[in-house]
Amino acid sequence: MGYEIHKYDIAIVGGGGAGLRAAIAIAQTNPALRVALVSKVYPMRSHTVSAEGGAAAVIKDNDSFNDHIMDTITGSDWLADQDAVELFVNEAPAEMIQLEHWGCPWSREPDGKIAVRPFGGMKIERTWYAADKTGFHMLHTLYQTSLKYDNVINYDEWFATKILVENGRCQGVTALELRSGRLEVIAAKAVILCTGGAGRIFPFTTNGAIKTGDGMAMAYRAGVALKDMEFVQYHPTGLPGTGILITEAARGEGGILVNKDGYRYLQDYDLGKPLEVTDPRHPVKKSMELGPRDRLSQAFVKELEKGHTIPGQYGEVVHLDLRHLGEKKIDKKIPFVRELATKYAGIDPVYDPIPVRPVVHYIMGGVDTDIHGATSIPGLFAAGEVACVSINGANRLGSNSLTELLVFGARAGRVAARFATEHPELDIVSLEKQGADEQERIAKNFIRKKGGSERAATLRQEMTTTMEFGAGIYRSEASLKETSNKLTELRDRFPNILVEDRSLTFNTELTSVLELDFMLDVAQTIAHSALARTESRGSHQRTDCPERNDQKFLKHSLAFCTDGPPRIEYKDVVITRWPPAERVYGR
Ligand code: FUM
Repeated sequence: MGYEIHKYDIAIVGGGGAGLRAAIAIAQTNPALRVALVSKVYPMRSHTVSAEGGAAAVIKDNDSFNDHIMDTITGSDWLADQDAVELFVNEAPAEMIQLEHWGCPWSREPDGKIAVRPFGGMKIERTWYAADKTGFHMLHTLYQTSLKYDNVINYDEWFATKILVENGRCQGVTALELRSGRLEVIAAKAVILCTGGAGRIFPFTTNGAIKTGDGMAMAYRAGVALKDMEFVQYHPTGLPGTGILITEAARGEGGILVNKDGYRYLQDYDLGKPLEVTDPRHPVKKSMELGPRDRLSQAFVKELEKGHTIPGQYGEVVHLDLRHLGEKKIDKKIPFVRELATKYAGIDPVYDPIPVRPVVHYIMGGVDTDIHGATSIPGLFAAGEVACVSINGANRLGSNSLTELLVFGARAGRVAARFATEHPELDIVSLEKQGADEQERIAKNFIRKKGGSERAATLRQEMTTTMEFGAGIYRSEASLKETSNKLTELRDRFPNILVEDRSLTFNTELTSVLELDFMLDVAQTIAHSALARTESRGSHQRTDCPERNDQKFLKHSLAFCTDGPPRIEYKDVVITRWPPAERVYGR
């Protein structure tokens, strides 16, 4: 196989919300820059499309930047960097209004003003929405806007395999054109990773099949630390069986969670009293269902342990009851919830409660970046779920991530544009050599490989099972050690992988093996970071160390790639104006 070198100023890997926002920012910063937008799927199939409930930004008179900052920091269990949160909150409204100007059909109040809805852990209503298909509309808006810029060239269905670092600088990626099977070098003066998260490491997830941690693993292998990987978000309301998200908007609009006795069990946990109004400025009912996701998911486990959940075809569930909202409101505000529940659970929520259970939804950790999206490798940037800036700390608040991909996608795009302008040279000869090496690695290990007896599907299933068992909502030293050992075993078995399909055209067996390879690396960073953090904070709950320990662990974990399991180091959390305090909801 020969290969070509495609020369660009900037390569963006990932065509979802963050990638598209970055591309637009680059085009607007310097229209002369040529941008390759490399995506393993067509951009409109990126996972942003499935986001439902909304995007948070201060817009109403009863809200303030300080309130949004405080909610985000409290939600993060004080692990978010406060400088990052502050600029995120400050820049969020302009990004949302910009999206409106590009055509995003935000839902409106009867007087024409932007409508906002309550969301979990946000003590004030600030979540903008487009019914309950917010991600779909945002992605359409960004994609159609990106098409205005001729210098943004789409590499759709190109699967990035490796970040190319030369002379201490990131200078491109290798990518497999899925249609032809050709592995080529996309040389670029700067690269922005926007590949999303890695929920597929777990067996039960809201994440689309494409969310396999590719960007995280590529950055990790190139030498960048993965930060705070132990923090994995379970969303409290997934549809059993499929894991399809039933948006938090259903609870924002008034839905309630009940156990087998029809009892609103959340009142027994630290999530406030039902329908209590504790702040006279704001008419938000601080009902229990609008607590943060980590606490709601943990409450489900406690109900399960007490025998209060409901057995179902796919395991234990609780009920999300929307019946009291009425058909008109359901159809207007959350029509997609009705559609999904009807199609995938055979339940029409107008008449029956929806069975739900916690489901892996989001990885708070990711590629360690600064507030500009820059990583420790000059020329390499990251934005969106793949990155850990960090504004989410130990627990992200619902509706902060859609806004995050706008704010930090735009920032990374602008800074990468400047970097590429100031660093015009590329080491083409060395990149050619790296491209040839990567081509040979893939051919030798997978395409030309003889023998092999390990099936990717088996290794993958064993990986997801051990992750759920050992690194789920509650973890312990014993469970994490077992999972870490299992992952080491899976890594050792991986070289014996069997690839039966030797064809070059749309070889999905090959891409699923490459994805598994990425996922195993990312899974190890999660298990080992969780093992090393001997405290409980946010979504990381250790049954053997149930207290938060600020003295030792008010720190970000950093997982570095080695020849074996990751090496874990720590760095301080940025605390500016909001000193650590107890995390209290609704008391
Ligand atoms: O429930 C939801 O609509 C999810 C939103 C989010 O993760 O931000």
